[in-house]
Amino acid sequence: MQEETSHKQKLAEFEARIARGEKIEPGDWMPDEYRRQLIRMISQHAHSEVVGMLPEGAWITHAPNLRRKLVLMAKVQDEAGHGQYLYHAAESLGATREEMLDALLSGRAKYASIFNYPTLTWVDVAWVGWLVDGAAIKNQMMLAHCSYGPYSRAMVRICAEETFHYKQGKEMIVQYMTSGTPEQKAMTQDGLNRWWQPMLMMFGPHDAESKNTAVLMRWGIKTKSNDTLRQEFINEEVPELLALGLTLPDPDLKFNEETGNWQIGPIDWDEFWRVVKGNGPMNKERLAARTKAHNDGLWVREALAAYAEKTS
Ligand code: 3HC
Repeated sequence: MQEETSHKQKLAEFEARIARGEKIEPGDWMPDEYRRQLIRMISQHAHSEVVGMLPEGAWITHAPNLRRKLVLMAKVQDEAGHGQYLYHAAESLGATREEMLDALLSGRAKYASIFNYPTLTWVDVAWVGWLVDGAAIKNQMMLAHCSYGPYSRAMVRICAEETFHYKQGKEMIVQYMTSGTPEQKAMTQDGLNRWWQPMLMMFGPHDAESKNTAVLMRWGIKTKSNDTLRQEFINEEVPELLALGLTLPDPDLKFNEETGNWQIGPIDWDEFWRVVKGNGPMNKERLAARTKAHNDGLWVREALAAYAEKTS
């Protein structure tokens, strides 16, 4: 009985801290579910960053000029660093790198479904910058207010670097749509047709189907819902895409004067779950590439472990 009172009291104090806008730090008391949710979310975020290097990394050796090559190399390198920040943030909650990587490579853990789509042409690199990193920034600016200190602080640094990713992607699209050849304009429209809907899925299922959102918002991990963030991003980006003469691949898209929102047609959630469950266009290639990189790095981990043992 006494133990139960103590837990209730600790939970009440924890929730009062959240309500006051305090940051929860690694050594603080937290409900087991708060810890579990954060490990789930942060580790999958880290997996997304590292797997997200693959679609664009494939184009580094095919960049159209030296400047684009240098920019893309810097961007892909940034994503690796974001993965490291986020794995460290998850480790501050007690998760181990081995557990997290095993969950990824075994297919048990998730990562952003969008990275299971192929980058078929160079302009896809631009669309990943504008749309994928843009949507990630929208979500991550919200997470910068997350109640868990290490995660919110990682978001501040990551969002600063993502802004550069977003701008370099948008710069390319503007260039191709304003001064590109007819072939480049057609290639740009084709890319938008393929990336628009998978990008909308980055914000997660609709709120009514989002099984984690309620507890995440109760404890200040999320401060806006999936649908709210998705709508904000649509409202910001649609006018800019239309101004470039692009057509959104959504016949139901229309502006609602009353709400001020760009209303979209239905999102194909069957496609979403098919990809999340491992049956997307590139799932097998993505996990095979990550598995190869992990196996190729075994000798480094073994050498570091041997050195640590020798010097301890
Ligand atoms: N891809 C894959 N799985 C997804 C998903 C997506 N786009 N959206 C949701 N899911 C999964 C969730 O992980 C959850 O499964 P789980 O319980 O087994 O983990 C299930 O679908 C139900 O979704 P919920 O809405 O209940 O889950 P969340 O409340 O966690 O919301 C989220 C999903 C919005 C992705 C949230 O987890 C989140 O904000 N995560 C942190 C941000 C993140 O991971 N971003 C990924 C992109 S990072 C990126 O693009 C970087 C770029 O620069 C390379």
